[in-house]
This record gives sequence, structure tokens and C-alpha cells, in this order.
Amino acid sequence: MKPIYGRHFAAVYNDKWASWGAKMWPFIWKAVQRANPDASTWLDLCCGTGSLLKLARKHGFSTVGLDLSKHQLRHARRNLPDTEFIRGDVRALSLERKFDVITCLYDSLNYLRSARDLERVFRKVLRHLNPGGLFAFDVNTFTGLQDRWRGATLLDDSRSTVIIQSSFDAGRALGRCRIIGFLKTGRFYKKFDEEHWERGYHAREIETLLDTTGFDFKKYDADAFSRPSKRSGRLIYVCRPR
Ligand SMILES: C[S@@+](CC[C@H](N)C(=O)[O-])C[C@H]1O[C@@H](n2cnc3c(N)ncnc32)[C@H](O)[C@@H]1O
Repeated sequence: MKPIYGRHFAAVYNDKWASWGAKMWPFIWKAVQRANPDASTWLDLCCGTGSLLKLARKHGFSTVGLDLSKHQLRHARRNLPDTEFIRGDVRALSLERKFDVITCLYDSLNYLRSARDLERVFRKVLRHLNPGGLFAFDVNTFTGLQDRWRGATLLDDSRSTVIIQSSFDAGRALGRCRIIGFLKTGRFYKKFDEEHWERGYHAREIETLLDTTGFDFKKYDADAFSRPSKRSGRLIYVCRPR
């Protein structure tokens, strides 16, 4: 499989999509305060360009980010010079320390294409949480990808033009998203072309895995931050070790 979040797409991601952290922050911050007002250490998995950690840092947390893409991390380091960023695969998470808060947001867990990998990550997260710690993640549901990953979208501004073409294979629960773009660098445009695959998870699959791993959890609709329904396209889970 070709690497994703390459140099040019990471630059576009940092311009266009890095606001996700700010959107999720008020909800997550409230959950953290409620669970553990003394929390002081925060690990963001699949941290992208660091948008969530920027807010955690602002609130006094000692922050660490982990991501697979060196290009995403290049932006993250520039955005947050005083945060430690580690390049690594979330499935192989193995740091010699524990954290009060661990997060993983914005489709990141959908990149894990098997329930076995998802379970492996849950187990590793559990091992990296301090007693009383909190783990929060959002995830596209099967229904969400089935409803939303179809057709094409064009994003165009003075720095880049991006065409996103997506489809969903219900039989394999897999969404495919081809992202073709042109990033302005000086007088020229650099072309990029990436193929992203996301697995749509059913709530019951996720919940069985959380339960067997040893987490108690609450879930919410991540678009409205309200009670979830069967049609919720994205869920957010707030989990505590049992
Ligand atoms: C949609 S971005 C979300 C980034 C960030 N969480 C945010 O909210 O902006 C998904 C991120 O997951 C990272 N990623 C995907 N698979 C990964 C893996 N197996 N291990 C670590 N990072 C991964 C990608 O490099 C990318 O930065």
C-alpha cells in the first residue's frame, strides 16, 4: 500500500482540516474535568498536525503526540514546538510511561481495517493509562460511511485544489477515498494522489471490544454531542478503565 499523508497532502491537511481539534475540544475538555480535574499528562494518538494538543498545551497539560506520517509530524512540530512528537504505528504503541488522558480523533481508528487491530490498540491504550485515566476517541460508524462516502467533492482556494472521490463497499465494510490535489508552491502546482481506506465499525463491535479489554464507556453522537441513535454517522466514546 502506498504511504498516505505524504508531503503535499499533509500541507493541505494542515490548512483545511486541522480545525477538528477545536471542534471536539469543548466536549472532551468537559469530560476530562469531570473525570479527573487533576489530570496533567495527555497523549494524542494519530495526532496529525497537532490541533488538539495545541489546546491541551494551552490548558497546562504536558503533551505527547504520536503519528505514522512524518509529514503530518513536521507540521505538528512547527505548530507546537514545545511538545514531544513520536513517529510510530498506533498498533505498536509502546512508551515507557503512562498518561492521565489519551485521545484518538477524526477517523483515525477507522484506518485500522480489522477488529483485531482495533482490539490491539484498545489493549495498548489501557496499558498506557494512569489509574483513573480517561480515553476518548471518535469513529465513523458503518452507517456513517455508507451514507456519506459517496460521490465527489471539490475544495478550491488560493493555495490548493482538491478533489475527493469516495465510495463504500458494504460487503467488506470498507470505504475508499481517493484524494487528488494540487498544492501551490511558488509559481507552480505540485500534484498529489492518495488512496485512503477506512473501515466502518458497528457500535456493537466497538463496544464488545471495549468491554473485553476492560473499559467502561459512555457514547455520544459526535456530530451533535448528544444521545446517539442507530443512524449516528460518527460516535464519540469516553472510556475509563474498569
Ligand atoms: C484524519 S487524520 C486525524 C489527525 C488528528 N487526529 C486530527 O484530529 O486532526 C488521521 C491521522 O491518523 C494517522 N494514522 C493513520 N493510521 C495510523 C497508524 N496506524 N498509526 C499512527 N497514525 C496513523 C494519519 O497519519 C493521520 O495523521
